[in-house]
Amino acid sequence: MEITDLNEKFYSTYFLCLEDWSDEIKEAGNHKESWFGLFKDKGLRVKIAVENDKVCGMIQYLPVEYSIIEGKDLYFINCIWVHGYNKGIGNFQKKGIGTKLLNAAEEDVKLLGGKGIAAWGVSLPFWMKASWFKKKGYKKIDKDGMAALLWKPFSNEAVPPAWIKQKKKPQPVEGKVTVTSFINGWCPAQNLIYERAKRACLECGEKVVFQEISTSDKKAVYEWGIADALFVDGKKIRTGPPPSYEKIKKIITKRVNRLKA
Ligand SMILES: CC(C)(COP(=O)(O)OP(=O)(O)OC[C@H]1O[C@@H](n2cnc3c(N)ncnc32)[C@H](O)[C@@H]1OP(=O)(O)O)[C@@H](O)C(=O)NCCC(=O)NCCS
Repeated sequence: MEITDLNEKFYSTYFLCLEDWSDEIKEAGNHKESWFGLFKDKGLRVKIAVENDKVCGMIQYLPVEYSIIEGKDLYFINCIWVHGYNKGIGNFQKKGIGTKLLNAAEEDVKLLGGKGIAAWGVSLPFWMKASWFKKKGYKKIDKDGMAALLWKPFSNEAVPPAWIKQKKKPQPVEGKVTVTSFINGWCPAQNLIYERAKRACLECGEKVVFQEISTSDKKAVYEWGIADALFVDGKKIRTGPPPSYEKIKKIITKRVNRLKA
């Protein structure tokens, strides 16, 4: 197993979150590729773990100034993922690959002159676990619901990062059902929700307005305090794990029927 920088040979696997076996992930469109295109010359770094010419893990991090959080002179890990499904290449977790990826990213950030690393995690025993980062020496510095912000400073001059918290919510359009999708681009699971919501809105017809807010532009993150989310008539829809197309359509249809009533 080798940790290396992402190269073109593995772009397509990386854009699909290493899940090239999954039909579901293909529903997520090309948003991750576009996001990568926007940030690859702005300091985005991707390391991959390769075994027998297959990618089994990846970590992606970028200068915090371009991320969804508040911070200065740090890098922000928006994703670390060691393939954990039995499908495709199989389960590579619990072999120490995650640790090697994180160590490689930390060394890289030090060489780049970063003053530390920030990462997000969930305060639950699954998905991107905050507890895993804590074991690696990261300290919790902020929280937003179940989402924890952690960091590891490399220098005394490092300034702690902070979440940019929600400032407002989308307002419904009079006489319509208003669906608002915030999309950053880096996460295919979130991109999938955007695509499903957009398709459901088209299917539901003229009573529904679909609004897209791209948060790859940091100004939008500052304005809303939201990075990835789905709102229907100003109400936030639970998106972890991604709701099915049928579920999203059902929520919208219910609101359309209420309009008629
Ligand atoms: C968090 C994550 C990256 C950790 O990856 P990993 O490779 O399993 O992590 P580690 O390197 O820490 O190894 C895990 C365990 O295997 C053990 N291990 C290490 N080397 C080992 C080896 N050679 N053989 C057997 N076990 C080993 C470690 O001691 C560790 O045990 P612990 O959990 O009791 O401390 C991985 O679990 C993951 O991808 N989770 C999902 C994250 C996610 O949802 N990402 C998408 C968010 S957008």
